[in-house]
Amino acid sequence: SSDEEGGEEYLFKIVIIGDSAVGKSNLLSRYARNEFNLHSKATIGVEFQTQSMEIDGKEVKAQIWDTAGQERFRAVTSAYYRGAVGALIVYDISRRTTFDSVGRWLDELKTHSDTTVAMMLVGNKCDLENIRDVSVEEAKCLAEAEGLFFMETSALDSTNVKKAFEIVIREIY
Ligand code: GTP
Ligand code: MG
Repeated sequence: SSDEEGGEEYLFKIVIIGDSAVGKSNLLSRYARNEFNLHSKATIGVEFQTQSMEIDGKEVKAQIWDTAGQERFRAVTSAYYRGAVGALIVYDISRRTTFDSVGRWLDELKTHSDTTVAMMLVGNKCDLENIRDVSVEEAKCLAEAEGLFFMETSALDSTNVKKAFEIVIREIY
């Protein structure tokens, strides 16, 4: 489509997935609005935010979708993944069970996606180094085996949040 100046415009759909309470909603609010909520409630259904960045002088818009990690709060799975060209698969570095779930989230993503998807494995809450439960090495290993980018982030202190989203957006572009 064209904008008012006649230049080209791009809109990409990106989905965020992972277990409940890994910090998906806070990663999105940190990226889109520079906000963090220590007491955020579990997401019910689907929310999304649109965020723009400039690549090679072109405006690229990412429509980033966030849903509930808890099965009972999730919306229709196929609709959530439809048209997605990027995905952040998030776990919490301080809770191993959330890392163990990554394979299941990847299976769901692959089952429902209808195109090639740029995928980033995200180990969130890296500010919790003192109670770390998943090493960087094993996460890197999984990412390499599955063909995913990998990054540790903190929505709390902003570490790598912008970077994680922008690497995916650049890869799609
Ligand atoms: P669901 O919506 O249930 O799937 O959860 P979610 O993945 O969206 O998690 P949410 O963003 O709601 O965060 C869950 C809890 O973790 C909240 O109390 C957040 O404040 C906290 N949290 C999120 N990101 C971080 C982080 O980077 N570091 C720390 N220490 N806490 C975080
Ligand atoms: Mg949420």
